[in-house]
Amino acid sequence: MIAIRRVSRLLSSAASTAVPSRPPGPCLPSIPQAIWDKTETRLHLNRQNPLGQLKLRIERFFSGRHRDEFVMFDNIPPIVSTKSCFDDLLVPHDHVSRSTSDTYYVQKDQVLRPHMTAHDVPLLKEGHRAFIVSGDVYRRDTVDKTHYPVFHQMDGVRLFGPSVSNEDVLTDLKETLENLAQTLFGKEIGVRWVEGSFPFTDPSLELEVYWEGRWLEILGCGELRRGVLDNSGISSDHRGWAFGLGLERLAMVLYGISDIRLFWSNDSRFLRQFQAGDLHVKFRPFSEYPATQRDVAFWINKGATVHENEIHELVKLVADDTVEDVRKIDEFERDSLVSNCYRITFRHMSRTLRKEEATAYHEEIKRKIAALLPVEVR
Ligand code: DAH
Repeated sequence: MIAIRRVSRLLSSAASTAVPSRPPGPCLPSIPQAIWDKTETRLHLNRQNPLGQLKLRIERFFSGRHRDEFVMFDNIPPIVSTKSCFDDLLVPHDHVSRSTSDTYYVQKDQVLRPHMTAHDVPLLKEGHRAFIVSGDVYRRDTVDKTHYPVFHQMDGVRLFGPSVSNEDVLTDLKETLENLAQTLFGKEIGVRWVEGSFPFTDPSLELEVYWEGRWLEILGCGELRRGVLDNSGISSDHRGWAFGLGLERLAMVLYGISDIRLFWSNDSRFLRQFQAGDLHVKFRPFSEYPATQRDVAFWINKGATVHENEIHELVKLVADDTVEDVRKIDEFERDSLVSNCYRITFRHMSRTLRKEEATAYHEEIKRKIAALLPVEVR
């Protein structure tokens, strides 16, 4: 087996196993405790979990392809500066990813990283020239079977010296990632490149694989922009590529896992199926327990705005992994007031949810929405 060169060390001075504690001072809007709790889990480091296995497989691919060139980082704490997360990566000031309805702000200039790309410039500044950085990322988002406020990404960077043209960089990038796709999905997998758009790369590309009758996007990548390399202190005769992929998305496609909450469950009926570490195992769903739906309708106060993600977050706050799906099913305006109706699907992962439990969640959700948002629950 190929040895993996791993650097388990932090950008900050704390110990590498330290869990970030909630920092003092104003946090607006505040990050739910349930999210802070999840910063401790680090599923990508758990070898029993398909996410941990997939990450290891990808690290092994890079170690094997370029022996000893790539350094692996997988234990960098998730609080990062807005500078390294956005500014250094040329993310425009009005980009939606900077908004407090998308990203969890710890303080004005600190966030729970919404992508692992946040570590590219700091690692380049430290002198690393080729690396893979894996970790947990955080986004305020909608709640459904494929979205969860915490997920896991792997980013990679490779730099090249003066003798390498930008065609060479792109050729190496494409060869490397096509090869990775073949390693994960099988030699015969169909792949194609489509144009992407990321603030930090030019050109930007997305890799799609033809899988079970459909083209599916599996990663984003491109040549790092000169401005990003300048921000990293890289001399003007160097170039480099970067890529980023979502581990949940990849694992869900590869293994046929239908519900993102499963990664967080300790249910042996789930974990057992991946024990052998075989990439080609197909997940066999165990019996699903019945779903219960409840609606919440409210008027939004005049002049106020309520972001959809706020509703999703409040629902998740109350019922956590018992929520399978939240969606807006109705919106209308009357006398310049706006009405919204959301349908919540509850489904317990490992038992039947009792009617009274669903009702209790429903009541608590209505109470929280009325108490915390500028709305009138109907
Ligand atoms: N950070 C991007 C995201 O979260 C993914 C990504 C795209 C990373 C292109 C990269 C890249 O390094 O080159 O969606």
